[in-house]
Amino acid sequence: ASLAELDDSVPAPNRTQDRTQAPVPAPRDGFVNTPDTDPALPANRAWGRAILERIPGSTAGNDVVESTKVATAEELDRIIATAVDAGKTWGALPAAERAAILHRAGDILDARRAELLEVMASETGKTIEQGDPEVSEAVDFAHYYAERAKDLETVDGATFVPAKLTVVTPPWNFPVAIPAGSTLAALAAGSAVVIKPAKQARRSGSVMVDALWEAGVPREVLALVQLEERELGTRLVSHPDVDRVILTGGYETAELFRSFRKDLPLLAETSGKNAIIVTPHADLDLAAKDVVQSAFGHAGQKCSAASLVILVGSVATSTRFRNQLLDAARSLQVGYPEQATTQMGPIIEPAKGKLLHALTTLGEGESWAVKPEKLDETGRLWSPGIRYGVKRGSYFHLTEFFGPVLGVMTAATLEEAIAIQNEIEYGLTAGLHSLDSEEMGIWLETIQAGNLYVNRGITGAIVQRQPFGGWKKSAVGAGTKAGGPNYLVGLGNWVPAEPSA
Ligand code: ALA
Repeated sequence: ASLAELDDSVPAPNRTQDRTQAPVPAPRDGFVNTPDTDPALPANRAWGRAILERIPGSTAGNDVVESTKVATAEELDRIIATAVDAGKTWGALPAAERAAILHRAGDILDARRAELLEVMASETGKTIEQGDPEVSEAVDFAHYYAERAKDLETVDGATFVPAKLTVVTPPWNFPVAIPAGSTLAALAAGSAVVIKPAKQARRSGSVMVDALWEAGVPREVLALVQLEERELGTRLVSHPDVDRVILTGGYETAELFRSFRKDLPLLAETSGKNAIIVTPHADLDLAAKDVVQSAFGHAGQKCSAASLVILVGSVATSTRFRNQLLDAARSLQVGYPEQATTQMGPIIEPAKGKLLHALTTLGEGESWAVKPEKLDETGRLWSPGIRYGVKRGSYFHLTEFFGPVLGVMTAATLEEAIAIQNEIEYGLTAGLHSLDSEEMGIWLETIQAGNLYVNRGITGAIVQRQPFGGWKKSAVGAGTKAGGPNYLVGLGNWVPAEPSA
């Protein structure tokens, strides 16, 4: 297809309805997950290639949408005051009216899918295959929270009072879905929002916000800011008119935010160091595939990614499993998203710090089964790495790296494997590969993580089906789960209703 034939307002020709084998809950109020674009279909692949062909032209451009560059404290205070004021009208709208605007936002995000994919690829290196479900997730958030907003009328004698102002500080790794989810939730709950996209992903955040404005969210209610100065960031987060901060990022950032203001009403989804356990009762072919996808999808830069695989009993010495795992990792085509063959894209910035250490240095008793290689001079393109021999309590066992490197550990029993995972101070996602229901029961009862996946990869939570959020050091503040039924409830204040007589 030539570019001229492609119309952004028309979705790709064929979409798959069901993204995973996840059980489908009964739709609530007609909510159904938005289908992805099926890459198995040639027409869809042509559509994807045409999107990527536009990239060289677009990277030179300025921000797709002008976000407000804030240079002074006075400017920032003015934006906050305007949002708080406009938020009063927004919060006073009947939930159904806000919901109608949010449903429209979902439709517009879907219609602008190609544009979102293009900007994510050019700005953050995300491949079309990784970006497409992300757009679907953003669309899902819009429709799902629109419906959940209607739950917030009086419940059990208490009335929901919207927050005055919610600050949203998203990460760069899901530059559309995470900012969209946080923003749409706050808007659905009647709050004004000031959003500061991650500096590596400003354009993606801008296009997302532009879609919400296009849907009818007033610009005063949803302000998009760029803050170059650290002091301004501190000022925004600690401003007394801010009564919710939704952060997705590192645990240290959450601690930092807390240090600005002790009573900060923070909802933070933070770091992860996630393991998949494979037992002798597993379908080993499926396990190898899911481990590789969970470890190396988006070059391992997902808070949900698998950083460890723990092999139980005979799986530890299974040559067949080892060969499958290593072959699958070695066969991944690494490159930039513009290259048609790319399966694993670049990391966001040249590897440094803990990640560079993890890519280049082995701990005691460890060996490379697949050695990561730096593939070009940018320092962003690395082939995947798999290290065997990771010891309990070692640096690699316990540290988050956020990149394409997987550690293999072994355990004599399932119980030992669970103990190995539970020693980690984070608890975001966890996976079990076993077809044995007793093992599933033990694991589900004792594993310490927010999102548990059995016989499935551990990334790509789906709105409503797998509400997403962690525990331990993977969550700070009110730990309700994004994309689940209780998320909006924590985004405002509940006050006892006036007695009716
Ligand atoms: N919600 C994202 C996932 O599940 C982080 O992979």
